[in-house]
Formats: sequence, C-alpha cells, structure tokens
Amino acid sequence: MGDGEDNEDPPQANRLRELLLPAMRELLERSGVEGSGAYNYYDTRVRQGLVFLEYEIALARKLLSCGLGIHRVDEVGSGFGQFMFLLGWNGFKMIGFEVNPLRGDTAATLHGMLQRAEPALTSNVRLIQAEFPVRFGPRPQPGSMVLTTNLVATCSRAKQLAVLRAMRRYPFVLSDVQRFFDYRPERHQEPDVLALFAEAGLRDPELFLDLGAGGRYYLFANPARRGFGLLSALWR
Ligand SMILES: C[S@@+](CC[C@H](N)C(=O)[O-])C[C@H]1O[C@@H](n2cnc3c(N)ncnc32)[C@H](O)[C@@H]1O
Repeated sequence: MGDGEDNEDPPQANRLRELLLPAMRELLERSGVEGSGAYNYYDTRVRQGLVFLEYEIALARKLLSCGLGIHRVDEVGSGFGQFMFLLGWNGFKMIGFEVNPLRGDTAATLHGMLQRAEPALTSNVRLIQAEFPVRFGPRPQPGSMVLTTNLVATCSRAKQLAVLRAMRRYPFVLSDVQRFFDYRPERHQEPDVLALFAEAGLRDPELFLDLGAGGRYYLFANPARRGFGLLSALWR
C-alpha cells in the first residue's frame, strides 16, 4: 500500500455528501436502477450511503496538494459526476465526458441541483454527454490534465488507443491503469497496460498515487510535446 492511509476529507466533501446522497436516492427511486443509469455500480454505492469512494477522496487530496500548477481537469467517463463536483467545488475547472445517456442525464440533474445550491462553485463544472474524444470538443490548454479513475467498460483495443491518443494532447495525463477499460488488479498485468499507453505515445510513467488494490495512478507529464514534430514522427 502507499499513500492511501490518510483518510482526511478534502474541503467540501461533507457538504456535497449532504446534498448529493438524498438527490441520488430520489433519482434512483424515481427513474429506477436502469433508467437512472445507476445500474449495479451506483445502486450499490447509494445503498451503502457512499457518494465518494476512497479512491476519489485520496485522489482529490493528492491533486489539491501536488503543486503541479493544474487548473483544469477533464475526466473521461465521469459517471454521475461526483468526482467532478468535488474537484470543481475546490476550485478546479472541470469537464466531464460521459457517453452513457442515462448516466449523463442523472449527472445533469445533479449538476442542476448543485447549481441552485451553490451557483458560483458549481459553475466550475461542465458536463459533456458524449463519447471522448469529442471531435469539436474543448481543446486541451496549458495547465490542463485529463484523467481516468474507474473507466471499466467494454471497449475494443483500437478504441482504447484512440482514447489514449486524444489524451496525449493534454499537458498532463493521469490514469488508474488497473481500471483503464479492462480491470487489471494484478501487478503483473501492469507492463501490458503501460505498453498500450506507450503505443499511443504516453511514455515515462510516474507513479502518482498508489492505493494498492484501490488504484494505481500513473502520471504522464507533457506527453504532447514529445509527440509533436517531425523528429518524433520519424522515430516511431
Ligand atoms: C465504471 S463507470 C465509473 C464512473 C466514474 N469514473 C466513477 O469512478 O464513479 C465508467 C464510465 O465511463 C463511461 N465511459 C466509458 N468510455 C467512455 C468514453 N470514451 N467517453 C465518455 N465516457 C466513457 C461509461 O459510460 C461509464 O459510465
């Protein structure tokens, strides 16, 4: 295990729990486990009263203290949006991409509820109900990061590479390699997934947050700079 032991909440986590949990419960009751896009994943969380899972708390804390100068974070597969709300309420500009329309609708409803409760903080968060990469979507900027937490979902290898190539355009890329589309909980599976990242131009991984079985987050810094230019094209 690594940095996961300290369980102190980041600012705003409790207030968000108080607002989000009853709203999630109500949406699940109103639209059903399928209709709300909760499925087993969020249904279990809501039943357990968990708005945030441990990896979200640990990752938020780490991003708030890492000193990388990041001001915008884009999340691929943002689900109900809880992690984006947490970072957005802590001052990051957030963009969440969610391809599942039912899940995206629930996230939009939760976003609207938070907008009424805390308009200024919630204005940091933008939801895009579409599959990443989005053709004419927001462009990566200096100081922006793209991240994936739990992204477990069915996806072909070719599509996974397309997602990674689009991620490479950001100055910072952060990913839980245990949950990048396929679930790879064993340490011996790591070289394979890092090879996939390298194939897309994401090299020199730095272990950013080690939560043991709860997530292994690797950071790729300035991958775009290495990916551009004639020389780097010739080297591939
Ligand atoms: C297992 S869920 C987890 C959601 C959230 N990251 C969390 O940890 O609670 C993964 C989500 O990623 C979404 N997803 C997968 N591929 C995506 C893509 N290319 N663009 C946007 N969303 C995607 C799925 O629809 C699903 O809602």
